Amino acid sequence: MACQRGALIVLEGVDRAGKTTQCKMLVQALQKSGRPAEAMRFPDRTTTIGQLISAYLEKKSELEDHTVHLLFSANRWELVPTMKKKLEQGITLVVDRYAFSGAAFTSAKPGFSLEWCMKPDVGLPKPDLVMFLQLSPAEAALRGQFGVERYETRVFQNAVQQKFELLMKDSSVNWQVQDGLGCRVSPFIVSFKARRKN
Ligand code: TMP
Repeated sequence: MACQRGALIVLEGVDRAGKTTQCKMLVQALQKSGRPAEAMRFPDRTTTIGQLISAYLEKKSELEDHTVHLLFSANRWELVPTMKKKLEQGITLVVDRYAFSGAAFTSAKPGFSLEWCMKPDVGLPKPDLVMFLQLSPAEAALRGQFGVERYETRVFQNAVQQKFELLMKDSSVNWQVQDGLGCRVSPFIVSFKARRKN
């Protein structure tokens, strides 16, 4: 019997919205319910490209804005063969950030259109569900470690939030907005099952 393809679930939001915690909880909940599931995150800082991005985010190096945008995209593309393999094996992938972060963060910089920012990621595996953890940049700024990395300023995060709101108007993407203050995993799964297309 052919195994059912795994689902591709993405969590997005401003910095410190709680995506990493929710990803872990969701993977655990899916595994507990008997569904093979694994977590992934972008940027994946373990690859050669990911290390360049990480040094940039940690302000240890400078990169030209178009260049770093393309590196973020390349970091996703280099993981596509692994993602496809796992999905075909029936493993559900819960991904902490994806191309939506790529478009929202770079287009929040002056001189970048959303359209240009989305182009390098055209053709990536399409998520079955994108959960947006809604948390105001002001709330996010109160959370631990905020301000350590590049982009972690309230002004920039406000601009990113506005770009995410534009991206969420795309009805071809299965967006689901969740309250980032005290959301729980179980409703995620219920709605994921209800809305899952494949
Ligand atoms: P994180 O590893 O804590 O999620 O942080 C990654 C940072 O990089 C975060 O500020 C969002 C930003 N980012 C981009 O600018 N472009 C991208 O494509 C991705 C995935 C993240």
